[in-house]
Amino acid sequence: MTSSNSRLFFTYIVIVIAVMISMGLIIIPLISGNEKIIASFALISGLIVFLVLIYNIFEKYMKPVRSAALVADELVKGNYKARTYVNYYGDAGKLSHSINVLARSLQEMVIQEKIQASQLRTVIDNMESGVMFINDKGYVHLVNRKFLNMFGKQSNDYIGYLYYDVIDQVKIHNAVQEAFLYEEKVKNSFVFSMEIEKKYFEIVGAPIFNEKHDLKGVVLVFHDITEHKRIEQMRKDFVANVSHELKTPITSIRGFAETLLDGAMENEDLRNEFLTIILKESERLQALVYDLLELSKLEKDEMTLKYEHISLPQFLQDILPIVEQQANNKSIQFITSIDSDTEMEGDPDRLKQVFLNLLNNAINYTPQNGEVHLIVKEEQEVVRVIVTDTGIGIPEDMQKRIFERFFRVDRARSRNTGGTGLGLAIVKHIVEAHHGTIKVISKLNHGSTFEITFPKK
Ligand SMILES: Nc1ncnc2c1ncn2[C@@H]1O[C@H](COP(=O)(O)OP(=O)(O)OP(=O)(O)O)[C@@H](O)[C@H]1O
Ligand SMILES: [Mg+2]
Repeated sequence: MTSSNSRLFFTYIVIVIAVMISMGLIIIPLISGNEKIIASFALISGLIVFLVLIYNIFEKYMKPVRSAALVADELVKGNYKARTYVNYYGDAGKLSHSINVLARSLQEMVIQEKIQASQLRTVIDNMESGVMFINDKGYVHLVNRKFLNMFGKQSNDYIGYLYYDVIDQVKIHNAVQEAFLYEEKVKNSFVFSMEIEKKYFEIVGAPIFNEKHDLKGVVLVFHDITEHKRIEQMRKDFVANVSHELKTPITSIRGFAETLLDGAMENEDLRNEFLTIILKESERLQALVYDLLELSKLEKDEMTLKYEHISLPQFLQDILPIVEQQANNKSIQFITSIDSDTEMEGDPDRLKQVFLNLLNNAINYTPQNGEVHLIVKEEQEVVRVIVTDTGIGIPEDMQKRIFERFFRVDRARSRNTGGTGLGLAIVKHIVEAHHGTIKVISKLNHGSTFEITFPKK
């Protein structure tokens, strides 16, 4: 009930009381004796009954209606916590009760809505792809967390702005425009140059319609495909490298065979020399194919190690004589320091490859009269293997890359030693399959140290 209405109500009451009092003042002087007393009594009783009636009407109807009206006002304003008193009777009580039920339902609905919105937000924020929603006027309405991670800005930098004011990439503009224009899904990809690296994205733009099939906006989904691109590039490089590596020995074998057939085989010296070259080249070819097969076996996901309990001093007894012989041939001093009783769990065949590759490298890349050390240490949790040489060393900027397939510091020199550039790639694979680590420390013209740790179990 509004305040002007209640003012009117009180005015009526005052008028009625005033009329009753004036009637009393007019009538009572006109009568006398007992009638006067009776009339006065009747008037006063009438007034009292009237006042009691008014009080009841006010308490039972006006107050609840007024309170209900106030609560309804609050509900309209969005304050769903507002409640009215419920200790009323009759219709007013029902009204108060209904208003409270309504308020409670509204509050419940709002809470549910908030929960749903926050669940939806959580899902959108935790998606693996970046998401942006642009409304039918071209304003950005929503960007998720992944999108912000991808492009490195805050949501305030996007939300509420026209998409072409906050996005520079023309390919994105095109995707948005095509989705709006053709009203169907569009796919595009683009390169985004960050400060240090290039990132590749695939973008899908999908139009959004309401129930009446009116276009309401466009959702853009961004997939980071940098890793795919990198793998694709690696594969291309790998194929190019393999072809190149195979071409060299094949060309030389073919060349020398042709020369021999063209008459060089009549000359015994030439024949011996060329056949030796052909043999060496075919050995290289064989080594290359063997290493490639080895790598592809290691790279297969299902690569399983045949774990055995290994006593390293005993295990190395098979390997060390081979290395000693190679070292002797080059007058290199081969010094070993192997902790007795060192034991670990591992695949003996694979570990043999690791030791042989590292020790072969140390001898190959160390000039005559140098030194090669093999240290095997048992520590609390790990077995540490160190291979040090006093050889040519590896330039610092290349140390990161020597574990890559086909990477060789000096291609010509490595090829002369029969190297394929796959040895360390294989070593790294095997070490990691054993959950170990490998690192290199090297100084050009001073020597290199390869350090491996294997967990004992
Ligand atoms: N101990 C070392 N001292 C100096 N350079 C080394 C040493 N070990 C490796 N390198 C460098 O790292 C490159 C990669 O070594 P990796 O063992 O993978 O290939 P490779 O020895 O050329 O051929 P292979 O596959 O036959 O072992 C070598 O070509 C060489 O340039
Ligand atoms: Mg090698």
